[in-house]
Amino acid sequence: MTAPKLALSDIAVTEATADVVVIGTVQRTGGTFSLAPGSETVDAAFDGQLVEILSTLGATGKADEVVKVPTLGKLKAGLVVAVGLGKDPGPEQVRRASGAAARTLTGVKRAYNHLSAVDLHAAIEGTALGAYAFTQYKSENGDSPVARVDFAAESSKENKATLKAATAIAEAVATARDLINTPPNDLYPASFADRAAALGKAAGLEVEILDEKALRKGGFGGILGVGGGSSRLPRLVRMTYKGPKATKKIALVGKGITFDTGGISLKPAANMDEMTSDMSGAAAVVAAVVLAAKLKFPLEVIATVPLAENMPSGSSYRPGDVLPMYGGKTVEVLNTDAEGRLVLADAMVRAAEDAPDYLIDTATLTGAQLVALGRRTAGVMGTDEFRDRVTRIGQAVGENAWAMPLPDELRSDLDSRLADLSNVTGHRWGGMLAAAQFLKEFVPDNLPWAHIDIAGPSFNNAGPWGYTPHGGTGVPVRTIAAVLADIAENG
Ligand code: BES
Ligand code: MN
Ligand code: ZN
Repeated sequence: MTAPKLALSDIAVTEATADVVVIGTVQRTGGTFSLAPGSETVDAAFDGQLVEILSTLGATGKADEVVKVPTLGKLKAGLVVAVGLGKDPGPEQVRRASGAAARTLTGVKRAYNHLSAVDLHAAIEGTALGAYAFTQYKSENGDSPVARVDFAAESSKENKATLKAATAIAEAVATARDLINTPPNDLYPASFADRAAALGKAAGLEVEILDEKALRKGGFGGILGVGGGSSRLPRLVRMTYKGPKATKKIALVGKGITFDTGGISLKPAANMDEMTSDMSGAAAVVAAVVLAAKLKFPLEVIATVPLAENMPSGSSYRPGDVLPMYGGKTVEVLNTDAEGRLVLADAMVRAAEDAPDYLIDTATLTGAQLVALGRRTAGVMGTDEFRDRVTRIGQAVGENAWAMPLPDELRSDLDSRLADLSNVTGHRWGGMLAAAQFLKEFVPDNLPWAHIDIAGPSFNNAGPWGYTPHGGTGVPVRTIAAVLADIAENG
């Protein structure tokens, strides 16, 4: 987990003392490819033959492709790594290609990245994100990530600021990934709360932890209901960053189910282990509020994080129970596996008491998100304007996001015979939207609100790609960070 040292370098690529030089290739129509802007000097060192050499080695320029060429003394570095940027290289292509390169550079001492000539911020971010490894539970560490990467860029004031911001953002993503990747026997509500408090205090935040007693006293019936089945009782963490000359107040809420068995409505055994990631929303908002402090955003940001373990036991909540939620509403529980919305509802009502200007919640909320949008695209719901703003920003930072509606009829499908509403509809249609309709009941009218369902994108259960490793991805940390930056700038 030693992150590489990242620096700017104005030394020409031919003179750079590095072990590896990373350049880009761009797909052209007709099956050919060209070198990305900035690689001319490298090509010159190969007497203008680099495209031919690469093409002989099978290069095409397509995304995620990595082709290695020994320099045999043509450069100071011994190896050129050419990574594909696809057809239309923009920041996300540079980020992915730099990530793919970083993943092949394990064990390398020093690399020189030339993709910064296309986009410096994306090259840095992609490199840092791709070099991430979580080895805490391995007896033998294996190859360590690349130790140092220099980016071809003059060390101007602007570029230094870019280096600082991109590094801080990648660190925040790594913080979220570390929390997600920590197994549920070590990460439970109390230990998560302690880790959040340590991160918050180190960044100068105000931190408050409500334990089960305080939750009872406060009337947090949703969190207590969901968390009651576990011997490891629930918590509510509140982390406050008050920036200099704060103009706007943003409330962040993240689902923190440290393990989701489904409870009495038990999940099937297959892939249940992946429910170690059911606290990805919580991890993202903790990382985001800490990042807001590190980047000194002129904002007030308050993260409210409900933490519980959803377990079946004699003290579990039951299907049929009616929970007295924080704020006074009652909910009839028809399925204990729809637990995320219950802990979120309590936390969102609490968060809204601070009278924020915006509310963003994020959660691994529904399997229906995966059915609707697949593993890599988050669903964004909420109030129309803010939902679209968050979606646009999510797409811009390369964390795919798509705006989804809140159909009225799904709200009436949540009507309960006994209580104010029930926690599930009696059918499986539009499950992601029904969950959001449930949450909407706990959001004050007129509060701009965005709900980001990250059931798929928060956790990569397959092989690594681009800058995305196996396991926790850190989505939507970069979206939230960019939304905060946008609010800081535009209100
Ligand atoms: N944590 C799950 C959602 C989930 C599923 C996240 C797969 C990541 C991958 C959530 O608590 C859940 O169990 N939701 C139920 C809701 C249903 C009972 C209405 C679901 O989606 O099946
Ligand atoms: Mn569940
Ligand atoms: Zn869950």
